Amino acid sequence: MATVSRQKSILLKQFNETRARTLSLVQTLEKDDFVVQTAPFTSPPKWHLGHVSWLLEVVMSKTNSDYEFYSQEFSEYLNSYYRQFGEPHDKDKRGLATRPTVDHVFEYFHMMTNRVAGILQNEMLDEKTQQLFFMAINHECQHQELLIYDLQYLLADRYRPLTRTTLLTPSQQESKSIKISGGLYMMGYSGDQFCYDIELPEHNVHLDNYKIDSYPITNKQYMEFVEDGGYTDFKYWLSDGWDKVRNENWKAPMYWKKIDGQWMTCDFLGNRKINPNEPVCHVSYYEADAYCKWAGKRLPSEAEWEKAACWDEKKQLKTIFPWGNEFPNPLHANLLESYVWNCSEIGAYPNGKSHYGCYQMIGDVWEWTSTEFSGYPGFKTGFSEYNDKWFANQKVLRGGSFGTPSISIRGSYRNFFRLDERWLFSGFRCAEYI
Ligand SMILES: [Fe+2]
Repeated sequence: MATVSRQKSILLKQFNETRARTLSLVQTLEKDDFVVQTAPFTSPPKWHLGHVSWLLEVVMSKTNSDYEFYSQEFSEYLNSYYRQFGEPHDKDKRGLATRPTVDHVFEYFHMMTNRVAGILQNEMLDEKTQQLFFMAINHECQHQELLIYDLQYLLADRYRPLTRTTLLTPSQQESKSIKISGGLYMMGYSGDQFCYDIELPEHNVHLDNYKIDSYPITNKQYMEFVEDGGYTDFKYWLSDGWDKVRNENWKAPMYWKKIDGQWMTCDFLGNRKINPNEPVCHVSYYEADAYCKWAGKRLPSEAEWEKAACWDEKKQLKTIFPWGNEFPNPLHANLLESYVWNCSEIGAYPNGKSHYGCYQMIGDVWEWTSTEFSGYPGFKTGFSEYNDKWFANQKVLRGGSFGTPSISIRGSYRNFFRLDERWLFSGFRCAEYI
């Protein structure tokens, strides 16, 4: 009973903090910013606000068979891809709808916050119901990060964050390749808090001996590939990747522009020269893979990544985070609540080191792995149409980024995107066979 009420109080606290964080991210936007969609892969901020609230209705409908949705119009517009709830509004036309209005979406947002807070405070919730509400909170965290990608695309340095902290000064660090011995590794989530269905069940995988970089690939390293003609030679590229390079005229990571012989970017920090010591960001799987080929290396599999991040060889145990089981704080990793609004330079997080000596595995940039996204052996769906309908044509990324809320990340977390997507905060580190 004590555990149930402890879980419930964590649930309420996380719910209130998450709803408040969503509002804080959009607090400084102008009303016009809420409505537009300037690329098919983005969504209007209004839509994110409404959608995360609609998903709370979805959870309430799963736990109460008499539940009635607020409005048919809202359910159609705010449904992303859940066909069990009807035909969703076209994803790439979300910015063409002036109804529901921004004010109406805010009203709806507050209504759902109050409704769910009332349930969490006043009702007895069984384990399954609690897990569904934890999932809704984690879903909202995912949309906070997607909203930040969209704000980067829409506004970049014209976005005014409510909170901004200064970057930590990095200690001098030389990137090296860390040897990790193979054998059986039990991958998957081993804790007792919420995790997604795709992080389970824990299962054994066999790994050969391998080496993995102690840091993510930096802009300096990636620039060498660019300047060496990386984007003009097909031999580094997968066939579909090469088509992308040519059809979309890719010459460098997204947002990079060469001005007067100098590579520049425009992001939340402003119009500025590419910082050579930051991890490379905004690269697709195709670009990460091409770099590895050029460098004579390869991407790690997700099992190799997870072992390098979480396995303590000395103690023969797996931890939830690279530094142990302690919940992330701003000295461990650059996650959303650091409010740095950018990647930190490599060497900025000595306290986040993994047992093997790999740095910045959590935070800064999501890291592409070579693994196709699918269910683990024995996978059981936790929520129909959430994760499992995407088990094709996507690659797994690990570790979270500077836009990831800290309650939603852990070493076993599996993100996934299509191979050509690069508006997310995505980078990589290299691995090698030995
Ligand atoms: Fe969603």
